[in-house]
Amino acid sequence: MTQHRITRRQLLTAAGAATLLSQLPMGLALGRARDGAKTPAFIDDLIGRMSLVEKAGQLTLMASASQNGAAAAANPISNTSAVSAQVAAVKAGQLTGVFNSSNVLWHERLQKAAMQSRLKIPMLFAADVIHGFTTVFPVPLGEAASFEPELARRTARAAAMEAAAVGIDWTFAPMVDIARDARWGRGVEGSGEDVLLGRRMAAARVHGFQGERGLADPEAVVACPKHFCAYGAAEGGLDYNTTDVSERVLRQTYFPPFQAGFDAGAMTTMASFNEISGIPATANHWLLDDVLRGEWDFTGVVVSDYTGDEELIAHGFARDGRDAARLAILAGVDMSMQSALYLKHLPSLVESGEVRMAVVDRSVRRVLQLKAQLGLFDDPFRRIKPSAPSRQRLPETLELAREAARKSVVLLKNEDDVLPLRTSGQRIALIGPLAQDWDSTKGPWTLFEGDDTGSDLATGMKQTLADPSLLQVVAGCGYQKPLAGGVQEAVAAARAADVVVMAIGESRDDSGEARSRTSITVPQVQQDLLDAVAATGKPVVVVLGNGRALALGKLAPKAQAVLVGWYLGSRSGLGLCDVLFGAHGPSARLPVSFPRESGQVPYYYDHKTTGRPDPEPEKLSPFKTRYMTAPNSALFPFGHGLTYGRMEYGGLDIGDGRLPADGALTVRATISNRGSRAAEEVVQLYVHDRVASITRPVQELKDFRKIRLEPGASAQVEFTLRRADLLFIGQDLKPTVEPGLFDVWVAPSAEVDGLHGTFELLG
Ligand code: NOJ
Repeated sequence: MTQHRITRRQLLTAAGAATLLSQLPMGLALGRARDGAKTPAFIDDLIGRMSLVEKAGQLTLMASASQNGAAAAANPISNTSAVSAQVAAVKAGQLTGVFNSSNVLWHERLQKAAMQSRLKIPMLFAADVIHGFTTVFPVPLGEAASFEPELARRTARAAAMEAAAVGIDWTFAPMVDIARDARWGRGVEGSGEDVLLGRRMAAARVHGFQGERGLADPEAVVACPKHFCAYGAAEGGLDYNTTDVSERVLRQTYFPPFQAGFDAGAMTTMASFNEISGIPATANHWLLDDVLRGEWDFTGVVVSDYTGDEELIAHGFARDGRDAARLAILAGVDMSMQSALYLKHLPSLVESGEVRMAVVDRSVRRVLQLKAQLGLFDDPFRRIKPSAPSRQRLPETLELAREAARKSVVLLKNEDDVLPLRTSGQRIALIGPLAQDWDSTKGPWTLFEGDDTGSDLATGMKQTLADPSLLQVVAGCGYQKPLAGGVQEAVAAARAADVVVMAIGESRDDSGEARSRTSITVPQVQQDLLDAVAATGKPVVVVLGNGRALALGKLAPKAQAVLVGWYLGSRSGLGLCDVLFGAHGPSARLPVSFPRESGQVPYYYDHKTTGRPDPEPEKLSPFKTRYMTAPNSALFPFGHGLTYGRMEYGGLDIGDGRLPADGALTVRATISNRGSRAAEEVVQLYVHDRVASITRPVQELKDFRKIRLEPGASAQVEFTLRRADLLFIGQDLKPTVEPGLFDVWVAPSAEVDGLHGTFELLG
């Protein structure tokens, strides 16, 4: 990787156009100066009075000694500590904070212990608040399907409010890793495959977690865009695996959501577990210092992932723990999570001269500055109010969970308008392992949830139906294994019903950390159940539970309707029923492409054309870029999602089709709802650069707009394209843009033609 810094001034000179810089889209911007907060004088004074051990303590974060079972199970067991030992460590000034406790009394006890330490530096309480706290919202991938960043902001705000109420200052979220290989289990935590959607969701979530009133607000928690960087590029979709990504791809694809998060004000980030092209992120000076701090002016805190510094040994990059601590701190990791290597080795590394005191002081300053920004020096107990009225699972928060749930449901197909179902006069058989598994509605990374036992689809249906006795619920099989007599029971229920709803897919344990799969299909036993039920001839609606894109080539043709239900959280059942029974139409779109077969992954819509593109994907042409058994296209592309309306696209207007270098091009289209139900459409703008000095993707999303249309109504949607929207990372690894011809589409998804035109970018 080349090691150069590009300053804003250099870019201006290079591009020769001041307008270009001001137009840089967030993702490709070179980072703007943060709020420029100066270090308060008392921090330098404090650092001057700290011992080396106290300094190392401020850079040491450990798992809370008091954790519930789910939180404890979220990470491998390592360096556990007894409650009394942890309190003693805090009193001795050897701990900066703890993570993954939700117990406000414990937080109070530890903060009181910190106030008994020599320098009384407040503790920091962190947690994995990924998609809700006690109220569980849809998994982030599901919520990304809403194509509604404002919704993501609101759920993050609500989660922050609940978490802060028990003393949590810092969330290890949002996860902003672009994920293009559906085998990787952690795609569920992010916003999918697309850079633009990823950027918008990252910014929205940071705004939501941190709030609008500054980090010192008692209801703000500081955000941590993670995992920096390219964790989602793991080879083979295998978690923790090697990534080998060019600097161009890093800058074009993996960096932008982080930049968006930092531009939105995130003051922390987490170094990822993986290596990038031979250098582990946790020891990657180029990444953590040259780029993050040098180019982007990031002034916040970099924390390692859980034992990430210690894992440099297993990577074969560090000789031992001491070497690992040295490499991590020198690369720019300010805070060590869980290994305790900084506490153990930093003092002697400084004494031996291997690490300069200034390097340690710099990291300590960043940590203390963060604590100051969070208002902890003013009032260490500002978020710790055990006797305050509960902020957990307030009615409005649960209502938001229901809104988020229904807005995350994607309708993939709806033959003969089998959906929406009727709430009365229709006998329904609800079949499948997800029918009444409330535990799976939570999805992975729910460590602190409240009572969600009523969140399953069966309960939602019983509450929705006018006559719940018309509903029969049968599991039919397990997620991976048959149940004795299950198929027969399911078939009998289907025969007795007018319509079958099959709740099938993955269990919550199939996605998340270390949950990579070799195949991304619905397990065979469930497909067999579907076959048996479909053979009754009854209309079948499949409601999928899933934490990733699924290959539905075999499954989809067997159902009249297919809904993607992800894991929708505390109000999963009711949110699904809002859509199933038509109180609200489906309004979400796929944030990841659903390929035809598992073997197509990694599959993403904005791939390159190659030198031998496949002109007729439906037929097997020789010597073309396709598989022998399947075209290289998605079964349900990125951006796809149907409504209960009938949308028509027309009236494309791109003016004179000329985009001046310092101007704008307005693209307009008229969308009409020719159906008989109101519907929400996500109108998408895609662009393709025909010829460039770097090969460009077949399509790239440049903007989207969600509109609601009553039956018979039309609306004109307007997009503005500027030169900066067409930037890419050039041969010199700097953002560049080249005049020439571009294709433009206004379309309901990627990979469909929609409305097509061309325009010229003038030089
Ligand atoms: C490891 C995960 O990679 C990270 O996302 C999480 O925040 C930490 N564990 C702490 O639980």
